[in-house]
Amino acid sequence: MESEKDYHNIAVIPGDLNGITVTDAVLKLSEAISDKLKKPIKHTTFNYNADYFLEQGITELGEKELNELAKYDQIFLGAIGDPVKIKPGILELGIILKLRQSFDQYVNLRPIVLPEGVKSVLSDKTSKDINFEICRENSEGLYVGKGKVLNEGTEDETGIQEMICTYKGVKRLTEFAIERARERKRFEKPKIHFVFKTNVLTYAAVPWTRVLNEFREKYPDIEFLYMHIDNFMMQMVVAPEQFDVVVTENMFGDIATDLGAVLQGGIGSAVSGNINPFGTFPSMFEPIHGSVPKRWYEVSENGDYIPGTKNLEKINTVKPEAAFLSYSMMLEQIGETEAAKAMKEATLNNLRDPEYKDKTVTYLTEKASEFIKNFN
Ligand code: IPM
Ligand code: MN
Repeated sequence: MESEKDYHNIAVIPGDLNGITVTDAVLKLSEAISDKLKKPIKHTTFNYNADYFLEQGITELGEKELNELAKYDQIFLGAIGDPVKIKPGILELGIILKLRQSFDQYVNLRPIVLPEGVKSVLSDKTSKDINFEICRENSEGLYVGKGKVLNEGTEDETGIQEMICTYKGVKRLTEFAIERARERKRFEKPKIHFVFKTNVLTYAAVPWTRVLNEFREKYPDIEFLYMHIDNFMMQMVVAPEQFDVVVTENMFGDIATDLGAVLQGGIGSAVSGNINPFGTFPSMFEPIHGSVPKRWYEVSENGDYIPGTKNLEKINTVKPEAAFLSYSMMLEQIGETEAAKAMKEATLNNLRDPEYKDKTVTYLTEKASEFIKNFN
């Protein structure tokens, strides 16, 4: 959503480890697009990360932080999580899920698009075959954080996690997907696959099936199809060319998009936008790779990360491309199409470098900046 102000007001949350490195790279690269912008961008950094949680003694962002972030047009997030400081799970729930839900970012848009000139792990597939989008439901499903543990510590211990799927939730997600499918023009008749597990999850499936049936009637210009999640995972590998836009439940989408990330060139270039389509709150754009602690700490025999074991060589070759592409997706969202395109093309140019793997983050950022300066 474009604001009335004469600048874009962007909140930046670098996070931890890799998140900080890729966010630094993004902020550097954003200088290169300044003359392609309709309005300048003002970045304000928020250090909501492991250290912040420890200092404040909190386990999730509270009113104070949410009210602050709500003032911004959009949020860019690097990656959170530092297992040496805080055990995994807390920051994920306390920052990422908290923001997705509090700001009603009900679509998690994850393009699975293999760039031209980049190899996929699928040896017989090219950029023509791998080109679809997953609209992951991002506010409910198995991710609502509802459940309980019964008889804890006894032989009868039982963990219960609820999957909540609402008619309104599935409907608004699919309405968003319809817009995407129409804009993509990948097939003559835009396609939307509903991906669920209606044969087993018979309660949660009811709204999915209802929306599918209703929308088939209501939108004859769209081809609606259905696939079970297990079959979908297989089809993504065997025949990805059949997909256009996919809508699916939160956790199914989480799992499927990691596979998607690998198909489109690797997790190092996979993008996601947590979108509030009405702009009632900021949307949030983040690479999907996480903070990658494995690059930052050696692992002991029993699998623990060892504090203070930074491996500089591994850190220098952190890849910023997913962050660049997420930022570019954000630019598109705020109507800065030209700058978005320049940033995207610069990133794809990096990915096409045959020696890409060994390049440092500094080199890749400079290379992308140069590319943008010469891009019209
Ligand atoms: C993702 C991540 C998150 C998720 C975690 C960090 C909460 O895996 O964005 O895919 O499960 O959604
Ligand atoms: Mn994930």
